Amino acid sequence: MQVREGMIPSITASEIQEIVSEIAREIERDYEGKELVLICPLKGSVLFMADLARKIKLPQVIDFVYVTSPKGESCRILRDVSVDVQGKHVLIIEEIIDAGRTLSFLKSRLQASFPASLKVVALLDKPALRQISIQPDYVGRTIEDRFVIGYGMDSEELGRNYSDIYNFTQ
Ligand code: IMP
Ligand code: MG
Repeated sequence: MQVREGMIPSITASEIQEIVSEIAREIERDYEGKELVLICPLKGSVLFMADLARKIKLPQVIDFVYVTSPKGESCRILRDVSVDVQGKHVLIIEEIIDAGRTLSFLKSRLQASFPASLKVVALLDKPALRQISIQPDYVGRTIEDRFVIGYGMDSEELGRNYSDIYNFTQ
């Protein structure tokens, strides 16, 4: 059985590509002449990262970090960043921001390594459930508090491979 059963595509694959292209254009404009470090928090952001990185035609280094943030527990690093971000223009590439705990944790850790700049890119933003005051610098779409899967996002690890983003109808 597919985990998307009973769900409907809310953002189609072609809409996603348009949104990602628009974000890439903004970043290219803002960072013209600069080199970037793109940090992808595993696992949900891998597809967004892969598309965005290819659309940004600027010199760039990519890296991955794996932070878990179980409900009611503090964030824990399973795989740390391996590039030196000191003096670099760093962008955290998040597929979705919900409570904001993961992002806030990651942001302060990276900030401690003295990057030249540190900004956050989010494909989707769910501000309704925010627990920590944190705003993405680039946002694809602001959405209601609805559980979504696909394009990297999962339901108990399944559904990350879907090209469209799905949610439940109400
Ligand atoms: P938070 O902002 O600390 O609550 O955590 C955000 C992370 O939770 C995201 O990077 C996703 O991995 C996951 N997440 C949040 N909302 C959803 C959703 O609707 N579907 C799938 N994963 C989600
Ligand atoms: Mg994520």
